[in-house]
Amino acid sequence: MSDFTANFWSVYVAGLTILSILGCVLLLWVTARKKVASSSDNTTGHVWDGDLREMNNPMPRWWVWLFVITIVYSLLYLVAYPGLGSYQGEMGWTSRGEHASEMDQATKELAPLYAQFAAKPVEELAGDPKAKAIGERLFVNNCAQCHGSDARGSKGFPNLTDADWLHGGTPDKIIETITKGRRGQMPPMAAAVGGADDVKNVAQYVLSLSNAPHDSVRAQLGKAKFTACAACHGVDGKGNQAIGAPNLTDDIWLHGWGENAVIAMVNNGKLNEMPAQENKLTAEQIRVLAAYVWGFSNKPQAAKP
Ligand code: HEC
Ligand code: HEC
Repeated sequence: MSDFTANFWSVYVAGLTILSILGCVLLLWVTARKKVASSSDNTTGHVWDGDLREMNNPMPRWWVWLFVITIVYSLLYLVAYPGLGSYQGEMGWTSRGEHASEMDQATKELAPLYAQFAAKPVEELAGDPKAKAIGERLFVNNCAQCHGSDARGSKGFPNLTDADWLHGGTPDKIIETITKGRRGQMPPMAAAVGGADDVKNVAQYVLSLSNAPHDSVRAQLGKAKFTACAACHGVDGKGNQAIGAPNLTDDIWLHGWGENAVIAMVNNGKLNEMPAQENKLTAEQIRVLAAYVWGFSNKPQAAKP
């Protein structure tokens, strides 16, 4: 695809390129033809520093030929490869195509490596040192910017090393998460709860669920309001992995701990997204990654004899 939004710039750049090449040809031609009349000792008559004089020799042949070759080469290059404005070049080369073919090549070369992983279940793969090393590298390159290089996450980005899962921690669920991505969505709930005081009460009730310090009178008042939340977080507040609603009883907080954080969740809601990786990573790579992630919070299984 061309980066030019209007044809003018393409023509402008192509024109400038051709003009500069023609300029070089002209320069070469003119200097080759021009004969400087020289004095009998073949100097130009210029004298510096008392006795330093300039000889009037023609440019060396080899130098002129190098110049000619450069010009011819540049013309051939511009016919073959993209370079003249948005002209594609006769060879059909694109940087995107080259990248794709290199990726294909790499995938092909890695196929035997991943083939030995394919036979093993994820639970066993998690204990395979080779798979672990590859998983770690894939993680650092593709996941660490959000989940941290130690996979412990940060505010809004889940910790992958604990046994607390928003969307499920079985190998299949983890593979699904990485492949298709996930959206965790909580709508703003303040209207369903009532006034600011009701929101404060329900927040105190949420804090009480994990035995965090709370105001027990307010929590008692907030309990009734929690019905608005139960559809997603469950009547007992233990969450629902099918829709990614977190467990509110475990004292693990994705979006911050304390009354203010909970009130902000209720008032503003939240849309949190894990990007799908299926277009970036192969299914085999995702399997190795899933084993790596699963291994943080589970004991790998020994190979069956
Ligand atoms: C752009 C940031 C981003 C990148 C890159 C990213 N993730 Fe995530 N990931 C998230 C967010 C945000 C969530 C939480 C989604 C939610 O709130 O439901 C998440 C959730 C997850 C979960 C589910 C956790 C649970 O508790 O169920 C897993 C597993 C996961 N990511 C693994 C990965 C792996 C492996 C990679 C690398 C291939 C990766 N992520 C790359 C942002 C990211
Ligand atoms: C439609 C479903 C839905 C309803 C209703 C709902 N939530 Fe949520 N809630 C979610 C989801 C999904 C998340 C996770 C968002 C994410 O992935 O980042 C969440 C996250 C939260 C969090 C953050 C948890 C953490 O670990 O930081 C709190 C607190 C919370 N909800 C409280 C409530 C309260 C209180 C109510 C009722 C007033 C409520 N929710 C109603 C779906 C819901």
